[in-house]
Amino acid sequence: MKKQKILSGLLTGVTILFILYALVNNYIVDPGAESFLSHKTGLKRALNLPVWLNVMYVHVAFACIAMAAGLLNFSNRILEKNRKFHRINGYVYLVSVLLVVLTSGYMAPYATGGKISSMAFNALNVIWLFITIMALVQIKMKRIIRHRNWMIRSFAFCFTNMFIHLITFLFHQGFGLVYATSYTIGVYGSIVLLLVIPDIVIRMNGTSTTN
Ligand code: HEM
Repeated sequence: MKKQKILSGLLTGVTILFILYALVNNYIVDPGAESFLSHKTGLKRALNLPVWLNVMYVHVAFACIAMAAGLLNFSNRILEKNRKFHRINGYVYLVSVLLVVLTSGYMAPYATGGKISSMAFNALNVIWLFITIMALVQIKMKRIIRHRNWMIRSFAFCFTNMFIHLITFLFHQGFGLVYATSYTIGVYGSIVLLLVIPDIVIRMNGTSTTN
């Protein structure tokens, strides 16, 4: 019980901080994404900046909504007191995930690091969609524990951007690799971590099932 409380406190803190960081950084500090775009060299297709920026704004907005909606739906108190809210909020999460994936699909061909990064982003899109739909299918079949576990796996992908930037920072600043290479390692590294960490959390929660 104590372990669960620490875990949920940590998750709440990290989620709120990251939502604030994403909003402030992308809409206030660097709305033109100049710092991020300065690392894009040798793009195979010309990037239409106004369109890319608007797609990125929509991407970040729905990513933040997905993070907030996802976090709220892990609250047992809300679930017990207001099931209707949990249901509606669950659909808000689902639609937000769809919009993050859709906007990601537009941005992927221009990804920093070129084709290898683009492929990883497309894989991320497919994996995240599959996992989120699995969570929906499980609850439609009234399998509550499995629904919760698939939602833990799905929610982890809300931290894709955070993990990419942490890993990129480590390889770029820490090991001195060029930014684009560090970023590609960041995207692949995130996929691995985001598939592994949730299952560790599920095991710590003691609600592991066979699938
Ligand atoms: C849910 C939390 C997420 C947030 C807050 C977020 C935020 C961002 C931001 C701010 C950018 C602009 C560049 C940067 O600063 O990194 C970006 C780019 C991008 N994001 Fe996300 N993102 C999230 C999740 C995802 C997921 C799950 C995917 C894939 C399924 C994805 C795919 C992409 C792609 C393809 C780009 C363009 C990368 C590039 O141009 O190199 N994002 N995201």
